[in-house]
Amino acid sequence: MQSSSNSLTTDHFISSLSEDVINFRIDRVYTKPYTLEPEYPDEKPVELGVGDLLWLLIFGLHKDSKYFPKPEVFDPERFSDENCDQIIPYSCIPFGFGPRNCIGSRFAILESKALLYNLLLNFEIVPTKKTANPLTCKRGSFENAVEGGC
Ligand code: HEM
Repeated sequence: MQSSSNSLTTDHFISSLSEDVINFRIDRVYTKPYTLEPEYPDEKPVELGVGDLLWLLIFGLHKDSKYFPKPEVFDPERFSDENCDQIIPYSCIPFGFGPRNCIGSRFAILESKALLYNLLLNFEIVPTKKTANPLTCKRGSFENAVEGGC
């Protein structure tokens, strides 16, 4: 897969897919007390104690315009060779990070490529009456689901 600038590869496309839809959260257990300082005036500090479980919402991070301008736009060019050095370290973590990151990431990317290749080869993908555009995430759910979706 290539763009007109010959720079967009399947890897960039898969990176964008992973950033966009696949992942949801990672969890960590606190081993030291820590205070999350408020960012806005109406917020209070959050005290985290030893043994507390923290869910890091990867989806929220990947949809944060501080790191990804126009996060609602599916734009594989964000990951092109020209642009990838603008990605802030640890802002894009579809497979986690550190010593417990995903051991299956390369296999998963390979699988995703095979899946995408076969889908595009054998099917025509068109919007239906139920296709949400723009797509809105379901509120009040920890699942990565679309508002109005099944
Ligand atoms: C698109 C597919 C996949 C995604 C998005 C994904 C994502 C993740 C994430 C976010 C973590 C947690 C990393 C962390 O806590 O820092 C993880 C852990 C893990 N993944 Fe995946 N994964 C995928 C596919 C796979 C596959 C295909 C395998 C195995 C064949 C696999 C095996 C594992 C294992 C064993 C861990 C735990 C590693 C550890 O705790 O040391 N994953 N994955």
